[in-house]
Amino acid sequence: MAKENIIVKILRYNPEKDKKPFWKKYDLEVDDDSTILDILNEIHWNIDGTLAYRRSCRSSICGSCAMKVNGQNVLACKTPMHKFKGNKLKIEPLPGFSILKDLVVDMDGFFEKMKRIKPYLILDKPIPDKEFIQKPDEFECIRESAICILCGACTSSCPSLWANEDYLGPAALLKAYRFIFDTRDDGKDERIDIINDKNGIWRCHTIFNCMEACPKDIKITEYLSRLKVKVLENSI
Ligand code: F3S
Ligand code: FES
Repeated sequence: MAKENIIVKILRYNPEKDKKPFWKKYDLEVDDDSTILDILNEIHWNIDGTLAYRRSCRSSICGSCAMKVNGQNVLACKTPMHKFKGNKLKIEPLPGFSILKDLVVDMDGFFEKMKRIKPYLILDKPIPDKEFIQKPDEFECIRESAICILCGACTSSCPSLWANEDYLGPAALLKAYRFIFDTRDDGKDERIDIINDKNGIWRCHTIFNCMEACPKDIKITEYLSRLKVKVLENSI
């Protein structure tokens, strides 16, 4: 396997001893098919064990390794270093969240908002003995929204959220879409009330950053637009 020399700048911050975040530079040799996560592992395991970052599945499933690389929110485990030209990388934590240490951000508020929209089926009807029947086209309506891995890349890239941290944000609203448009769910009115709030769906100004940032290529802005129509229909 061919090797390549790269220069990696990482925004480091340990709130217990640093006054503010600072850039630290690493020069290293890596396999030419390395992902961003491979590079962070190489630094952490062989150069600087103090570097903090989140990762778990290495398969773009758990959503824990989202970060900003050369100005783009990406999943470190899914992103080959050659996505970026010039063998120079600038790696930062996801913007819009407070930093706990280095590339690890505080996701508590993000998951709190997710909980607020009640991310589970709400049922008035009895639970069937075997399973809920859902037609293929009914499932198709929510299929893409259901593959969200809660990495936070979309929410972190939304200017409306930078301006108002109480805004529910695209990830929680996408989750609301996933249940409001689920034909098995009976909690639509309850959820629509939650998102039809001053910090809810109307804070989305169709900026599209969330859709561009999504590592799963979910058409988030489109689903949020459908959600706006649904809320309006419901209020007539
Ligand atoms: Fe933000 Fe996405 Fe709407 S970037 S403003 S949630 S379209
Ligand atoms: Fe799980 Fe990257 S390590 S999504």
